[in-house]
Amino acid sequence: MESLIPTDEPLRQEYFMSEVNDIIHTGAIDRGKYPTYKVVTFGCQMNARDSEKLSGILSGIGYTEAKSEEDADLVLFNTCTVRENANDRLYGRVGQLKKSKEKNPDMIIGICGCMMQEAEEVEKIKKSYRHVDLVFGTHNIYKLAEILFDHLKTKKQIVDVMESADMIVEKLPNKRQYAFKSGVNITFGCNNFCSYCIVPYVRGKERSRKPEEITDEIKGLVADGVKEVMLLGQNVNSYGKGLDEKINFAMLLDEVAKIDGLERLRFMTPHPKDLSDEVIEVMKNNKKICKHLHLPLQSGSSAILKKMNRVYTKESYLDLVKRIKAAIPDISLTTDIIVGFPGETEEDFLDTLDVVKQVRYDSAFTFIYSKRSGTPAAKMEDQIDPDIIKDRFDRLLKTVQDIAAENTKKNEGKCMPVLVENNDEHLEGYLTGKLENNLTVHFKGGKRLIGEIVDVVLDEAKGFYYMGHIQTSEE
Ligand code: SAH
Ligand code: SF4
Ligand code: F3S
Repeated sequence: MESLIPTDEPLRQEYFMSEVNDIIHTGAIDRGKYPTYKVVTFGCQMNARDSEKLSGILSGIGYTEAKSEEDADLVLFNTCTVRENANDRLYGRVGQLKKSKEKNPDMIIGICGCMMQEAEEVEKIKKSYRHVDLVFGTHNIYKLAEILFDHLKTKKQIVDVMESADMIVEKLPNKRQYAFKSGVNITFGCNNFCSYCIVPYVRGKERSRKPEEITDEIKGLVADGVKEVMLLGQNVNSYGKGLDEKINFAMLLDEVAKIDGLERLRFMTPHPKDLSDEVIEVMKNNKKICKHLHLPLQSGSSAILKKMNRVYTKESYLDLVKRIKAAIPDISLTTDIIVGFPGETEEDFLDTLDVVKQVRYDSAFTFIYSKRSGTPAAKMEDQIDPDIIKDRFDRLLKTVQDIAAENTKKNEGKCMPVLVENNDEHLEGYLTGKLENNLTVHFKGGKRLIGEIVDVVLDEAKGFYYMGHIQTSEE
């Protein structure tokens, strides 16, 4: 039997998808319906994209999507572990599903993603959460069908976590959350080891996908109706290192922008330490590339940036922003900031506020420093008092919000292209969409416009979003 199973990927997974498909199909005939699944995603865009791949495999083997995790036949938690104590929330939800499993004994519960790359979490599940059936990490999400097959055959808890990624498995199915936009991985992992961050430990060393795999995937997506693509990597700027081809991120960006039918191109995340002038030039010269850069600052103090191992200074960051704004005057800048890193003084914090005021971000994700065990920063002395952090966090948030409100106000009355994404959940008859700078606009319209790019007049700025109306032919 074993000898019939292919050893090469993706053939091996195609074999298991077909095997599980048979089991599911036979079961569906007995039960009179196909089983349902729910993938619950925590964390960043990488995880969101991984969840689309997991959903693709599940759909491919015969599962249909459930409305909620309680009534799904298979629930998969795709976890994030960037902050300490993220596990409390997860285990609360996993614990609750025990009741659902008592009602539906065939229910399958899986946990995967970044948290499962931590040995102590896996041990905890093995010991205390016996009702969890599948456990796997970030490096082998492509193996879902094989892991599920092993469980269906043995009815045992299957734990399959790889310590590092030995290869990139291409050409497996995926099921997109949105018909008209998609993330596309260009690199996996991270080599930067910022001292507060767990990502390099749970996502492994950086690997770039081959350029033709990326462009082929995007061409396929476009043929399938995708208008907007976001290139994904923990540091997209280091794309190309280690590949046989001589290619860097600027060249890839230029190549992707040439793809016919693709209307909008974004990327996340460019590390400020190596965003090249070449990339700025490509952005400037390509209409399809959104004039938006998410440029994580983390701190405005050169001393703290050094302790964070970010490899840039307050001055070099501001200089980079100056060069970007000179080349692309209407660029929208957004950022991530951490408050309360070990040893952060009031002066350091004032440097952060100063950068925020000079750069004038359109929006910013502000985080309270989390003492993430397993990272070098967790062992640093001078961890900051939570009351002081709270005070700084509030001041930062106020500054960020005031500036964002002033920025959005400036665009009031302008007409801009909007990619229509959803029905507005709160306003009957309204739609929501995204501007090129990723800010949200709400406006009246019918749902047939979802997935289209329409011109919207921004009537009223509301801080981080707008109320608008679709431009009429008379305007
Ligand atoms: N690769 C991206 C960030 C990925 S993690 C980059 O380099 O910018 C997303 C964000 O989580 C980070 O930008 C950082 O602001 C935040 N973050 C990571 N570790 C953190 C920690 N220990 N405490 C608080 N915020 C953290
Ligand atoms: Fe974490 Fe730094 Fe890598 Fe971003 S670049 S994922 S913050 S280590
Ligand atoms: Fe992303 Fe969280 Fe993992 S931020 S890479 S899902 S630890």
